[in-house]
Amino acid sequence: MADETAPRRGEGAPPPGGPLAGATGGPLMMTAAEAAMWWATAVALPAVAVLLVISAPRLAAARFLTAPVFALTHAITLGLGSTMIVGAAYQMSGALLSERLWTQRWVPWQLAGFIVGATALVAGFYTSRIGWLILGGSLVTVTAWGFGVIMARTGAALRRRGAAGQAGPQGRLHGLAMAISALSFGLVTTWGLVLALGFRFPVWPWLYIGHQGLLVHMALGLGGWFALMVVGVSYRLVPIVHGVRIANERRGMAIVALLVASLALQVAGALARSAWLLKAAVVAACLAGPLYVWELVYLLRRRRRRRPDLNVDHWWALCVVTVVLSATGLGWAAGLVSVRPPERLALAAGVAYLLGWVVQVILGQLYKVTPFLMWYYRATIPDVLQIPNLPDLYAPKAGKVAFWATNGGLVLLVAGILTASTPLTQLGAWAYGAGLLAVAALLGYGWLPAVLTGRVPWRWRARAAREA
Ligand code: HEM
Repeated sequence: MADETAPRRGEGAPPPGGPLAGATGGPLMMTAAEAAMWWATAVALPAVAVLLVISAPRLAAARFLTAPVFALTHAITLGLGSTMIVGAAYQMSGALLSERLWTQRWVPWQLAGFIVGATALVAGFYTSRIGWLILGGSLVTVTAWGFGVIMARTGAALRRRGAAGQAGPQGRLHGLAMAISALSFGLVTTWGLVLALGFRFPVWPWLYIGHQGLLVHMALGLGGWFALMVVGVSYRLVPIVHGVRIANERRGMAIVALLVASLALQVAGALARSAWLLKAAVVAACLAGPLYVWELVYLLRRRRRRRPDLNVDHWWALCVVTVVLSATGLGWAAGLVSVRPPERLALAAGVAYLLGWVVQVILGQLYKVTPFLMWYYRATIPDVLQIPNLPDLYAPKAGKVAFWATNGGLVLLVAGILTASTPLTQLGAWAYGAGLLAVAALLGYGWLPAVLTGRVPWRWRARAAREA
């Protein structure tokens, strides 16, 4: 693929205020993919914080099938999580796949369509306007399949060049997990749209009996899209960012196989209304958890850089959340853990998974990916390993505050839900929300004053490329 906007060496600038700010004198460039990530950081994070605080009393009352909670879940899954993943996938494709997808002309439109659709969908849920839900859901669904097509084309291009096997075992794992994940993304959005259409046109009422349609939707989204994406990307990204090699390809394949089995079992269990299939799905996912932690611990303990690094802290916290969730799930399946009413345990696990696993991994990556992306243009791919070795770039104070506020808030939230305590759940929501606002202020808005006052020149990459 011709890369007509390929960066030149020396172009671009480090983040304002960073240790090397202004060192190159070049402008700070922003691509459409980075703009999507900026949106997720600066707009979606505060929106999630506000919706979480609004939803806290309903979470404490275990009333999760309500408008604000639906808005909250989709602000997290679409506005924050999916926007960040899609933007990062386009931006990182150069480093991860040696293909710069973001140069494709319609990528900015695809990203814009996704963001507009996700915003309409969240607003539709919040205000209970089914028309907005259907319109937003349609836009999100079309653009999600567009993402899948771009990813598939890249895979085909890599195979044509014979480059698919060059990244070694972690590359194979990454490719497999990404392919299943991208397919699940198309499927979860389509299924969500079907559920939304059913609110307006009741032609498939059976889907809502026993929440079977919802369970399929959640399996595709939380398991197929997020879990496989995080596992697949981390198998490629953690070795690159921390200069290590994965321990064992077979372990990685076992994790992917267990997650796929869990996904299939949950879909089958929901459609067949079989409690034991659903239990088997939980067991499969909970067996994948410790295996994944085992690999992460192996990689993190061998990392080259030993300075304070929030990216690493978030990975450790993710390990703790994974172990706790897996142990709870296995304990529940064995009949050793129970909560009355049982929905409370499922709700607490869902909140821990979304806020302590999905959001955790996203926040952790911001400390690497955001500065990494800004500097990417100055570096050739062989230099990539040097970028994370710059001193103390990844542990700013506001980031540490955010780390403890979000993780402390999560503990309070889960405790509040399990004990049906509204004050505890609210306190957790406020703490977690404050942490999210701190991240948004640091990474989303921190550099804006320097750009707005002209101290650091800023340019939109497409324009800069035309003028070059
Ligand atoms: C990455 C994509 C998505 C993920 C991970 C996801 C996840 C979820 C989750 C976790 C819930 C349960 C929320 C709760 O209990 O409070 C839910 C419900 C729902 N989602 Fe999504 N969602 C996604 C995309 C979509 C899209 C594009 C639509 C289209 C309009 C949609 C429509 C719905 C509907 C209608 C429900 C309620 C279903 C019911 O009550 O039976 N979702 N989703």
